[in-house]
Amino acid sequence: MELTIEEQDMLAGGQGWATRKAMEILVALGTIYGAERMLAVTSVQVAGVSYDNLGEAGLAFLSELADGGGRARVLTTLNPAGMDVENWRALGIGEDFAGQQMRVLEAFARMGIVTSCSCTPYLAGNLPHFGEHIAWSESSAVCFANSVLGARTNREGGPSALAAALTGRTPAYGYHLDAERRPTVTVRVGARLAGSRDFGALGKAIGERLAASGARPVPFITGIERASLEELKSFCASVATYGGTALFHMEGITPETAALTPPAEAFEVTQAEVDAAAQSLSDAAPGEVDFVSLGCPHLSIAEIAHLADLLRGRRVTKEFWITTARSTKALADRMGYTRVIEASGAKFATDTCCVVAPIGGRFTALATDSTKACYYAASKNRFHTLFMPFDEVVREALK
Ligand code: F3S
Repeated sequence: MELTIEEQDMLAGGQGWATRKAMEILVALGTIYGAERMLAVTSVQVAGVSYDNLGEAGLAFLSELADGGGRARVLTTLNPAGMDVENWRALGIGEDFAGQQMRVLEAFARMGIVTSCSCTPYLAGNLPHFGEHIAWSESSAVCFANSVLGARTNREGGPSALAAALTGRTPAYGYHLDAERRPTVTVRVGARLAGSRDFGALGKAIGERLAASGARPVPFITGIERASLEELKSFCASVATYGGTALFHMEGITPETAALTPPAEAFEVTQAEVDAAAQSLSDAAPGEVDFVSLGCPHLSIAEIAHLADLLRGRRVTKEFWITTARSTKALADRMGYTRVIEASGAKFATDTCCVVAPIGGRFTALATDSTKACYYAASKNRFHTLFMPFDEVVREALK
């Protein structure tokens, strides 16, 4: 791999221990994937923030990097933590966990990383533009950045994203290269879609078909007339979860499609398949739901405004978490949405989500509009799930 003089200096330790460690990670990665050089990145999103996933070993590694002079060289934001940094007691998070989680966030902050704690960095001040090379982890955000924004990133892991932050570099391979961004299969959608639940179900149906093909396909999706930001957010999380997809093109909607030709290889996704994908995510028995959550990926301010309308003057009967970025919550505070939502008994779980918080064993069944939340609720926390449209999720909380 050809390195510039500055990159060689980083690798030789001339810019400190942490920078050397970070460059070693990137060179190893670039060598594995056959990268010929490094690229300068303008934005980083680091996942792997919850102490529940990191444990003592992860915390020790972060502290070592911070002590070793590690400092972010470009705008770097963080994925959700294992708790709401301010409201953790009300969410039933233990004192010990909270202490360790705060140490994790302090280590990131010492490295100059913005402790945004959100999986929608594009709604919270980290919004790269078309063609920018970036290094993001968090599969839903990676898919959104590549596909909807037209920025360029591989699906980084937490350590490689952090290494990119500390060096401002990432190896030039994968979705950074034009050749790897070309679509490989056309997907014709023959279903009527409205709302985050439908787009999530579509993402599951397409993702599973793509995963079954074995390769790493880039779908060119046709047949969708319009999609809102929230619907695309939901679709990205779902197709990334079920298909491992990091990049798609959606005709007439995402920015690269105009310059691309739909591949001859094609398959169709029907209404019946989308309906079946949705139905497959509900296994909770009637009356079993004891936990409700919206905000996977984190809610936008428009979704919170709608939620406030639905909850105004009502009382929820179940534990109900509203997960969003702290900057979005600040807007909700200003607009009075927070007051309305909290008066209903629902709780903001800002900075975190129902997947990364340590809540295994606390609930039996989760109601949500998120396919990704369903997937992890079942696989990580062993909850049953009820997958339904946004408004019906709220009705379930009020039952
Ligand atoms: Fe975000 Fe948590 Fe879902 S990190 S995409 S809300 S699993």
